[in-house]
Amino acid sequence: MSRILLTGGAGFIGSHTAVAMIEAGHSVIIADNLYNSDEVVIDRIEKITGVRPDFRFCDVCDNNQVREIFRENEIDGVIHFAGYKAVGESSEKPLEYYRNNIDSTLTLLEIMREFGVCNFVFSSSATVYGPDNEPPYKESMKKGSCSNPYSWTKSMIEQILTDAAAANPDMSVMLLRYFNPIGAHKSGLIGEDPQGIPNNLMPFITQVAVGRREELTVFGDDYDTPDGTCRRDYIHVMDLAEGHLKAIELAMSSKGVEIFNLGTGVPYSVLEVIKAFENASGIMINYTIGDRREGDLPGLWADAEKAERMLGWKAVRTLDDMCRDSWNWQSKNPKGYKGDKK
Ligand code: WQD
Repeated sequence: MSRILLTGGAGFIGSHTAVAMIEAGHSVIIADNLYNSDEVVIDRIEKITGVRPDFRFCDVCDNNQVREIFRENEIDGVIHFAGYKAVGESSEKPLEYYRNNIDSTLTLLEIMREFGVCNFVFSSSATVYGPDNEPPYKESMKKGSCSNPYSWTKSMIEQILTDAAAANPDMSVMLLRYFNPIGAHKSGLIGEDPQGIPNNLMPFITQVAVGRREELTVFGDDYDTPDGTCRRDYIHVMDLAEGHLKAIELAMSSKGVEIFNLGTGVPYSVLEVIKAFENASGIMINYTIGDRREGDLPGLWADAEKAERMLGWKAVRTLDDMCRDSWNWQSKNPKGYKGDKK
């Protein structure tokens, strides 16, 4: 059994990864400042697994708080989820995004070096491929130019981690490039709970379905795709979580840097996702066709071969599973985790 620190582990992907890690027999510490999550997630993880993860309220940019965690625990590895992640907001607040996302990573790396912890898994994003690469994206492709500060932080952190590993032969770094994570744990106890108006497609759909939003705006249907709407590689968040489990286990038995796409390799359009959701939930979704959203690409999806070959991991859940589990979470938590507040 290993003891793994999950920064941002109370968030959407972090909490699902915590469940997968605990169920695989690992011990988990969650460090989170609850900026974009809620402490009730810890109770929900315990309800699902029967094990209460060790939770530390922590600003990962604060080296005293992070050092305390390493001083009190024998940590074998770190999965770094903590970071601001709203694409649009990052263009309005670039300094906050660079400060928070880069600073937290540098703080973690400095404390890990102090304590001789060498295994690091990073929550990166397919956005680092940029607009110039043609899908399906392969890890060997050159990174592209990013269209917003959020994406640049992911690209820069990949470079920081690559350089840190080059300077320390004992380090093992896994850069996980996510495609479009959606869905929820099958219990419906944890799921995606964005603050404010959802930026992403699936939480917007589920909030329309549960009556929190009037209607969905489809951002453009005049793209060069079969039905005119953008195509994305949607991946079930539990498949993504299981990919992290494989990655941290590989990190603990290897050295150097590896990049992995975590996607299904199968793109679906916005209209296909709406249809699939309606079939899975039995609820019709009101939508109108609006203007294109700045920065959207017509299509992006993964070549997922390397993760299957080196991690022995492949996404197995279908779009129907993703839609059904998304709806199960939202219908059981119409107001998200806040609904639990007395
Ligand atoms: C998917 C499709 C939209 C909302 C982003 C980030 C990426 C990662 C995942 C963090 C697009 C369309 C959406 C809506 C719509 N984020 N859409 N109406 O943009 O592929 O990726 O989220 O890690 O880094 O870039 O995901 O869900 O926002 O959009 O029509 O109200 O749905 O135009 O075609 P995206 P998304």
